[in-house]
Amino acid sequence: MKDKVVIITGGSSGIGKACALEFGKKGSKVIIAARNAEKLAEAERELRSFHINCFSVQADVSKEEDCKALIEKTVEKFGGIDVLINNAGISMRALFRDLDLQVLKNLMDVNFWGMVYCTKYALPHLLESKGSVVGVSSIAGHVGLPGRTGYSASKFAIQGFLDALRTENLKTGLHVLVVCPGYTASNIRNTALVADGSAQGETPRDEEKMMKPEEVAEAIYKAVVGRKRKIILTVLGKLAVWITKRFPKLADKLIFNSVSKEPGMDF
Ligand code: NAI
Repeated sequence: MKDKVVIITGGSSGIGKACALEFGKKGSKVIIAARNAEKLAEAERELRSFHINCFSVQADVSKEEDCKALIEKTVEKFGGIDVLINNAGISMRALFRDLDLQVLKNLMDVNFWGMVYCTKYALPHLLESKGSVVGVSSIAGHVGLPGRTGYSASKFAIQGFLDALRTENLKTGLHVLVVCPGYTASNIRNTALVADGSAQGETPRDEEKMMKPEEVAEAIYKAVVGRKRKIILTVLGKLAVWITKRFPKLADKLIFNSVSKEPGMDF
């Protein structure tokens, strides 16, 4: 990965920032994108403190023009793209019956369309470098999670899109990787949207027991180098995917029981 050009959306915190550090410490040139200029500048300073060759671009991935500008600025500065990590994402927590539909649209705009826009504009450069498109999906992209209809829908959509893109490019040398982290300690549950579209502001789960973003980043790095097609992380995540495939009715009951323990999930 030395001197490879790696774009990471949602690079200002959590898994994205950990990926920036992981690739950057291995010698890659790193571009991080996110909406919040202050957090982005802070993340860039942290990367530079490790002498990582990097820059940041303020971008809202739900806006096509921002994604186009992100790709253009990268090519202008570094001359090409080797890896695009579509990581930016938001979550939600509300029952569908209570949900303002705009929340579901926001989830699709950021998680799905953000990935589509960035991939579309980066594709010519990635085909030239025979590089990698990475999509950070979730176990919720395999298993429908109650209280997260929009999140699951966006993550299933990511996987369908990337699986089709991979097959389309079987002969072009493009590498397509789907990453499905299990529960990972980060900001994602604090910023998750509730029924009316406001942020829930706290996590309903014990973050201490979760995988660390740095472990996810290390797994992503290895999977990019090894040109893997999909990785599923955490024992619980692997088990959930396996049970859902083999015993879907049992999976429904187990997932229902697990999520009903969360505060506010009154089915
Ligand atoms: P995080 O909240 O720490 O990071 C999300 C990043 O996305 C932040 O940098 C945020 O600024 C950025 N972002 C959000 N909306 C954006 C937009 N419109 N435009 C540009 N950037 C935007 O959360 P985390 O956990 O690091 O999330 C990264 C990815 O991992 C997400 O796609 C998430 O769905 C996925 N994931 C996370 C899991 C977890 O338990 N933390 C589990 C499975 C998947």
